[in-house]
Parts: sequence; structure tokens; C-alpha cells
Amino acid sequence: MKVYSPNEKTVIRLRINGQIYETEITPRKLLVEVLRELGFKSVHIGCDTSQCGACTVILNDRSVKSCTVLGIEADGSDIITLEGLAKDGMLHPIQEAFWETHALQCGYCTPGMILEAYWLLKEKPNPTEEEIREGISGNLCMCTGYLNIIKAIKRASEIISTKKS
Ligand code: FES
Ligand code: FES
Repeated sequence: MKVYSPNEKTVIRLRINGQIYETEITPRKLLVEVLRELGFKSVHIGCDTSQCGACTVILNDRSVKSCTVLGIEADGSDIITLEGLAKDGMLHPIQEAFWETHALQCGYCTPGMILEAYWLLKEKPNPTEEEIREGISGNLCMCTGYLNIIKAIKRASEIISTKKS
């Protein structure tokens, strides 16, 4: 196992939204900070105790709270942030559904919430209300009261299954 000294800088390589980035960081730097410094400002910080989920990203196909991962741990990984969801200017169905059902107000939790929904719908394409509530239980929202977020995720699952059929 490599031992890092606190001020030693190491180059890490990340594939973010399909593009390769290299950056030099100290071992204590959190992935959330690395991503924000690379320009992915949709990745938000809402707490310092791993509870809010505002920093959620998809890391090697799993939803992860990027405030609980060190940048050096993520070296070599594949990451999706909210900036990577729309394609050619077309919103991803989950983004479309959030807009359609008024599932956001201040928008601070929204990137993390959408990415959690993205992972949930990959795991369970037709989730029940209970599965949705459980699925987003790691993501806090101070504004919406969650009901419209649940509607949005249901709506997104319909849009995705219609597009597939
Ligand atoms: S910033 Fe709150 S869980 Fe990551
Ligand atoms: S929309 Fe404001 S915290 Fe969720």
C-alpha cells in the first residue's frame, strides 16, 4: 500500500462524463472538491456529516456521496455528474420530468437528487412509491416536501419505458 505524506501531491486521472481529466492533488482532498475545482459546479456541498446527498455522483456505475470519497481513492474511475446527463442539448428524461412536475425550488439538492434517481431507475425501472422514497432517503431537500420529487421519478420511469418500447 502506498503511503502518502500530507503535502505530497499526486496526479490522478478521472473519466468524467466521458472525458479524461488529470489533476494534481494532496491526499486529503475530497472528491467533491476535486470535481468542483475541475468545473463541475453541479456537485454541491450541503453538509459535513455525509447526510444530505447534495454531492451525489455516479462513480463506476454506483451512486456515491462524493464528500465521503478521497480524490486519490477515485483515481482511474469513471464518473457521471449532472453536467453529463443532457445529450446534444436534449434534457435527460429525469431532468424533463423534474421540470414538468415542479420537483425543485432552490435547486440546491436537485443535481444530487436527479443522479440518485438516475441510479435508482437503472436498478429498478418501475419503482413503487415506497421504493422511490427509500431510494432517495439519502438525499435531503429543504424546499419541496418530496411529493413532487416522487411524482417526477415516477413520471421519468414512464417516459423512459415509453422511449424504450
Ligand atoms: S455534502 Fe452532504 S452528504 Fe455530501
Ligand atoms: S429544491 Fe431546495 S433543497 Fe431541494
